[in-house]
Amino acid sequence: MEVVILADEREVGAFAAGRIASMIDKHPDAVLGVATGSSPQQTYRVLGEQVAAGLDVSRVSAFALDEYVGLPGDHPQSYHRVIAETVTEPLGLDPSRVHVPDGMALDLDAACADYEDRIAAAGGIDLQLLGIGANGHIGFNEPTSSLASRTRVKTLTARTRADNARFFDDPDQVPRQCLTQGLATILDAHTTVLVATGTAKARAIARIVEGPVQALWPGSVLQLHRRATVVVDEAAAAELELADYYRYTDSQRRLWETERRTD
Ligand code: GLP
Repeated sequence: MEVVILADEREVGAFAAGRIASMIDKHPDAVLGVATGSSPQQTYRVLGEQVAAGLDVSRVSAFALDEYVGLPGDHPQSYHRVIAETVTEPLGLDPSRVHVPDGMALDLDAACADYEDRIAAAGGIDLQLLGIGANGHIGFNEPTSSLASRTRVKTLTARTRADNARFFDDPDQVPRQCLTQGLATILDAHTTVLVATGTAKARAIARIVEGPVQALWPGSVLQLHRRATVVVDEAAAAELELADYYRYTDSQRRLWETERRTD
């Protein structure tokens, strides 16, 4: 796992956006996995600036990680709408290429299977952007999610409902179920980039990066991924035992990249 520790949220967003932009540069028809939540917002902002500066995203497709069950697509907190407002519209993606699981489907299991089929038909996800819950969830894969899980219906923990209550007028309005890509679905992405900032994420980051791979801390499954990057600010890195080692390896990588550019 590549761990990159940066000064603040702005640098974290710029780093993640840089990785995404260089992938789109190389593969204009790239398939991007997109996350909701506050963590990736800075990444989207910087990416928006790169689009304004000429990055061509007209052929890029996107798949969201998850969706609440029972919120209509025009509800301000449905991930259909959140993705439209924070990703599709500001980046100028083609809406017909942006996919979100259907949390309003009458047959939710069929909607989950259809989502997996759509990802496969697009050729798989090239780069999956991730945030992390304070309890270690990625997507909405709550603790004890199967490490082999695919897109399915999950019940949200009380902790996640409380964390997300800030987006709703009344905590009771936070849905109890969701559809989420599974941990194995996420592992299938060619590359993953997880962004986390702030002290509230420090414990989860230490557990998923340095703890055992275990369903209790679902993000730890990324240790099994060959191209997983975790980008954090100093606050989110606070509980990492080997922080100095990650800073050292990152400085070596930068040195090596500079040398390669000047060759
Ligand atoms: C949400 C989303 C996750 C997100 C996480 C953290 O509930 N389903 O994809 O990574 O919780 O959110 P935030 O970035 O706002 O802390």
